[in-house]
Amino acid sequence: MSIPLSDGTSVPWLAWGNGSGNARHNAVECGKIGLESGIRHIDTAQLYLNETETGLAIQKAGLPKQEVYVTTKNRGDKDTAVPVPIDEVREAVQGSLDRLGFVPDSFLIHNPFVAPPGQLKALWKVLEELKDEGKLKSIGVSNFRPQDLEAILDGAKHKPVVNQMEYHPYTLAHLEPVLAIHAKHGIVTTSFGPLTPSLRHPTGGPLKPILARIAERLTKKYGEPIDSNAVLLLWTKAQGVVAITTSANPDRIKTLGKIAQSNWELEQDEIDEITRVGKTIHYRHYTEHMEVDFPLPNLPSQ
Ligand SMILES: NC(=O)c1ccc[n+]([C@@H]2O[C@H](COP(=O)([O-])OP(=O)(O)OC[C@H]3O[C@@H](n4cnc5c(N)ncnc54)[C@H](OP(=O)(O)O)[C@@H]3O)[C@@H](O)[C@H]2O)c1
Repeated sequence: MSIPLSDGTSVPWLAWGNGSGNARHNAVECGKIGLESGIRHIDTAQLYLNETETGLAIQKAGLPKQEVYVTTKNRGDKDTAVPVPIDEVREAVQGSLDRLGFVPDSFLIHNPFVAPPGQLKALWKVLEELKDEGKLKSIGVSNFRPQDLEAILDGAKHKPVVNQMEYHPYTLAHLEPVLAIHAKHGIVTTSFGPLTPSLRHPTGGPLKPILARIAERLTKKYGEPIDSNAVLLLWTKAQGVVAITTSANPDRIKTLGKIAQSNWELEQDEIDEITRVGKTIHYRHYTEHMEVDFPLPNLPSQ
């Protein structure tokens, strides 16, 4: 299943990312297993230092590039994470293209802090120009708060097609203002950290028994072992949100390939229950961008 984007392209709903865990350092072998298992979207970034390995994984899997959707993102200077001066951004983008060996399907601003202070709009303009020149395909953003989206949308020639953020039921309450801007401008939400409720929340929170109950129903219905993590991915898909997960464990990667290709679905009342209960707490794993100058909801974390 693919999700349509506002520029007329579309993106496979489940991506395997090579930016976290052991996948980052095993990007060729794990990426190849993912592609062989049926995954058709890889999420990488300049920051992960494995764009070259991303291209190699596709080659090793024996797939033509056009069968695999690839997202990458710019960062600050490669050694210092200091923002790249605006007049050096074109060269930095070209570096990604050279390492990947192709033009990525989408190129994102990794977070608002990779732009020199006050120059987010100028950075977006460079990406717009590169797109107009045919040097980039889809362009989007990541970890953008309401003020960042407003800064680049003001007078934009091209709207970002996606905003990639930590998105799962426990971030929903905080993200409401961001999601309202997405809805108004046709920006697709892309979720990293989608498994945080089941894997990272210290107790699993109020969704723990609910996800387990739904997983049990799906396991019986489809005759396959379906766990709480899979339920979270299916909930993400049901929101029309792209899920970026990862694994370096071959068996788990194969399961992700199965989920990506499956027609497994939650019932509408299960989707609504996860959303409703998720919104009763706030819990985020990656706090370094979205919790700066963006007030948190007055909710418990448990
Ligand atoms: N734009 C950004 O700023 C940003 C930030 C963070 C991440 N990302 C992207 O999103 C991707 C995924 O991020 P994420 O790691 O936060 O996603 P996630 O889907 O929430 O978590 C994936 C992690 O969970 C582990 N895992 C999966 N199933 C498990 C299980 N049953 N038991 C124990 N551990 C399990 C995996 O480890 P194993 O290898 O052990 O399976 C993997 O390290 C990254 O690789 C990156 O591409 C982007």
